[in-house]
Formats: sequence, structure tokens, C-alpha cells
Amino acid sequence: MSRSEPQLPERTRVACLPGDCIGPEVMAVATRILRELAPDLELEDHLFGGVAIRATGDSLPDETLEACRSSDAVLKAPVGDPEFDAADVRPEQGMLRLRAELDVYANLRPARKGPVDILIVRELVGGLYFGARGVRDDGTVFDTCEYHPSQVERIARRAFALARARRGKLTSVDKANVLETSRMWRRVVHEVATDYPDVEVEDMLVDNAAMQLASSPEQFDVIVTENMFGDILSDLAAAMTGGLGLAPSASLGDIGPGIFEPVHGSAPDIAGRGVANPAAMLRSTALMLEHGLGREGEARSLEGAVESALRDAPTPDLGGRASTSEFADAVVEALAR
Ligand code: NAD
Ligand code: IPM
Ligand code: MN
Repeated sequence: MSRSEPQLPERTRVACLPGDCIGPEVMAVATRILRELAPDLELEDHLFGGVAIRATGDSLPDETLEACRSSDAVLKAPVGDPEFDAADVRPEQGMLRLRAELDVYANLRPARKGPVDILIVRELVGGLYFGARGVRDDGTVFDTCEYHPSQVERIARRAFALARARRGKLTSVDKANVLETSRMWRRVVHEVATDYPDVEVEDMLVDNAAMQLASSPEQFDVIVTENMFGDILSDLAAAMTGGLGLAPSASLGDIGPGIFEPVHGSAPDIAGRGVANPAAMLRSTALMLEHGLGREGEARSLEGAVESALRDAPTPDLGGRASTSEFADAVVEALAR
């Protein structure tokens, strides 16, 4: 038997996308904390979003896409800048492309506070965001909501499996009283349900779901829904559980790296003032440690340290006075305890 060459351990690589407006402010906190908590991780910044458009003309340059593909996880801060709102090339287009290229179809958006403990499972690579679109000869503009049953089946399976590991209740949200895609969604969800007899499943129309989320959010365990409904309902769930500054997300496929990013946007209204709440970014980092890198211990430590910082150094969106960096100091102190 020949002696094998000594091998250097493979390093775990995280592609960091700092993005726009408050993006770099909250990403700086995440990388500071990761260097303390998991110094072996290799963190590399890449151009993405508005900053990438300014530098290269493209919101998702090839180099960035390749770096994301070959990483172990993508840690992403928000993109978007009012400068591009009316432009043909916009930061958000790169975001949709990155989600599609990595096929991260399952977007997990937890919302927790007191008795409320909801997990929204949002389909992320189909529906209105990706259907046919255009302008007809008469000037009519259209976007189309399109789903293939296989896309519904895979997100439904993911949601049932998650519900089984939680409190065993799944609410499937649709608009089956109006939309063909929703009627197919409902049919497929109930076909998949036969493989999960231990999970209680209910259907709810999206308008009612918004009302129920606002009036009795504690009734929900896992909510599964299509892309656009999930976008809107997850901001509402965030508002019901402490605000957008706290809400994280994990976008997962079946293979390859996941994308971990806050639910909130780039908050141009507070950018540059050093007051952005980095908790959602840090909770997304904890989701990355757990679901993206299999490092549950560090994920739990980080979640705990964020909880203490929320008590000791709340930022202005939470009624406190701490700056972004004072919040980060409080997280570092809590990690050291
Ligand atoms: P937004 O989420 O950026 O802001 C909504 C409100 O919440 C603002 O008042 C903002 O100040 C506040 N807020 C958000 N995050 C906060 C934080 N961490 N700390 C304190 N306050 C916070 O939504 P918007 O204003 O509608 O969108 C702004 C831009 O962000 C748009 O260009 C949009 O396309 C983009 N966007 C990007 C993502 C993403 O990259 N994941 C998500 C949503 C919106
Ligand atoms: C989100 C954002 C994005 C979405 C936008 C910026 C494209 O609102 O991640 O919730 O709608 O998915
Ligand atoms: Mn959104």
C-alpha cells in the first residue's frame, strides 16, 4: 500500500455578499462575530447587487456566481438602492438569478416571540417572480404566476418534514377560490399529505391567513405557501414578532450551498447612520451555522448571545439607543461569558 500524501484539511468557505445601503453595515457585524466564534471559516467578500452594477454593469457578476457555487454557504446582506429603482439593470434581478442558479427552492423564515413560534416555508424559485412576463402590442403589461406540480411537490415535502419535526401542524396558504395555480397547489399538498399521516394539514386562503396572522398568530406552526404570498406574509409575521430587524431566513435546495439572509431589505432610509439592527443578519448567520455548515453548537451560542444583546443593547427600531456597533459589542461580550 502506498503512503498517501499528507493532506491539508479542507477549509470551509463562506461567500459573503455585503450588498447595498445598510447591507455592508450589518455584514461587518456578522463577519466580526464569525471571526470570534468560528475563526477557521474562510470568509470571502464578493460584489453583488447595486455595488456590483456600479463596478461591472451586472448585479451578479460571473465571478460572484462561481464563488457562490463553489462555496459551502452564501451569507448575504440585503441589496437594493433607490438609485436603481427605475433602471433596466436592478440589484434585485441578481438576487432572483442567484436563487434560481443555486435552486434554493425552500425559504425558511422563522418568526418567534413569546407564545408565537411560526415557521414560514416560502417557495422561492417559482410563481409570479419567474413566470412569463412582457408587454402586449396594445400596451398591456403582464407577469404570470406559473407552477409545475413537481415544484409544489418538493416544497410541500420539505414543509411536511419540517412540521413533523416541530408541533406537527401545517397550514397551506393559497388563493384556490380564484387561481388555477392555487387549485393545483392544494391538490398536490393533499397528495403529499398521505405520506405524512402524523401531520395535521389545513388549507387557508391568503387573505384570511393575513388576518389570522395579525389577530391570533399563536395558532400557526408551519405555514407553506407560494413565492409572492410568502414574501408578504413573512414581513407580516416579522412585524408580529418584534419587527424586521429581527427576522432571519435560510434558503435551501436539495444539494449545494444555501443562501442565508435577513428578511429585511437594504433600508436606505437609515443607511449610513450606524443604527441598523444587525440581529436579523446575525440570526441568519446562526441559521447558516446550523443548516448550512452543520455547526449546531456555534449556532446555539450565537442565538443565545443575540438574545442577551437584544436585552442589554437594543437598537432604535426596538425603542433602544444602541448603535449597530454597540449591539455587536454586546454580542461579543455575551459570547465571552
Ligand atoms: P426594508 O426592509 O429595507 O425597510 C422597511 C423598513 O424597515 C424601513 O423603515 C427600514 O428602516 C426598516 N428596517 C429594515 N431593516 C432594518 C434593520 N435591520 N434595522 C432597523 N430598521 C430596519 O424595505 P424597503 O424600504 O421596502 O426596501 C428597500 C430596498 O431593499 C428595496 O430596494 C428592496 O428591493 C430591497 N430589498 C432587498 C431585500 C434583500 O436583499 N433580501 C429584501 C427586501 C427588500
Ligand atoms: C425578500 C425580498 C425580495 C423578494 C426582493 C428584494 C426581490 O423582498 O427576500 O423578501 O421579494 O424575494
Ligand atoms: Mn420581502
